[in-house]
Amino acid sequence: MQSSLLKKINRLTSEKDLKRIKGDVNKIISEVSSIQEEIFNSENGSSSSVNKNFLLSELNQIMRTQTLGRTQYYLNRLAKSLTQNKTSNLNDINLNRWKEYNDIITDSLWIIDKRDKSGAHKADYWGNFIPQIPNQFLRRYTKKGDWVLDPFAGSGTTLIECRRLGRNGIGIELSPAVAKLAKENLRQQKNTYKIKTKVITGDSTSIDLRAELKKEKVSSFQFLLVHPPYWDIIKFSKRKNDLSNAKSVDDFLKMFGNVADKTYPLLDKGRYCAVVIGDKYSSGEWIPLGFYVMQEMLNRGYKLKSTIVKNFDSTRGKMNQKELWRYRALAGGFYIFKHEYIFLFQK
Ligand SMILES: C[S@@+](CC[C@H](N)C(=O)[O-])C[C@H]1O[C@@H](n2cnc3c(N)ncnc32)[C@H](O)[C@@H]1O
Repeated sequence: MQSSLLKKINRLTSEKDLKRIKGDVNKIISEVSSIQEEIFNSENGSSSSVNKNFLLSELNQIMRTQTLGRTQYYLNRLAKSLTQNKTSNLNDINLNRWKEYNDIITDSLWIIDKRDKSGAHKADYWGNFIPQIPNQFLRRYTKKGDWVLDPFAGSGTTLIECRRLGRNGIGIELSPAVAKLAKENLRQQKNTYKIKTKVITGDSTSIDLRAELKKEKVSSFQFLLVHPPYWDIIKFSKRKNDLSNAKSVDDFLKMFGNVADKTYPLLDKGRYCAVVIGDKYSSGEWIPLGFYVMQEMLNRGYKLKSTIVKNFDSTRGKMNQKELWRYRALAGGFYIFKHEYIFLFQK
């Protein structure tokens, strides 16, 4: 279908009769509309086949043109998008078909109502993030085969997404029980792209990452996804090197800084790091943990590329608890947390 379509489009690029072009494009539109979606299905992040909606939107744009010049411009653009792949050295997004990627977020406000529960993703680890976070970043800031590090791997959400998208991933998790859970979760996800995903039980503040990379015969990462505990909001373990057991904000930032120091040298220059973090209340005071952490990253030489505000809703909160918190907020003059931050940095 794709090659016969291309032939038709190519023929039209040299046609001079605007009325005839429109007539033929109209025929192509009905042909494309009648074809089953699957034929055009495009894989997450790649463009080996044509997305039906993309095709229809390009064809409809041609139908709306007024002049022969404009029509041929769009026809040529469509022909180019069907044959040429235009990617950057950062990701596999085909910019010639940028309209296909309408699920890639480019705004700094992320309102995501539903957790992606497809594949091996489960929502049962308290403190995990939604799979859409790694999905968005891996598609925008990595290529297939790149190496990704998650120094706070938790239940393995990042690594599961790595598998689904064909990126290699290393995850470090302090708690042996949680690392085991991440391994179990990973086993549920098919390794279609035959990439490596490894969960290491260890302490990210002190681990020898260079040695870990060496074992994989690579020397650097192309993306870091960092989702530390939001200090002591959730106590993940009793271990003293667990960031959730830091004794003070300064102590927390020192531990986070150690992770930043360990990971920064191993990220390729020009590549990206995303830190997912929320603020917290302590003794009636809003502690801007997120901004403190951002400053730690800037102190190490990272360039801030974006501050994303993402919604969150504690689905575990029962309705009566919500009401209790609303009463407390009204009475106490504070606001209930409904957002967290994702700071995006470039080395
Ligand atoms: C916010 S959770 C990450 C959740 C993860 N993104 C997921 O989707 O499951 C933070 C994790 O960091 C782990 N952790 C805390 N201190 C650590 C350290 N020093 N080294 C490695 N992991 C640590 C905790 O056990 C916890 O699982």
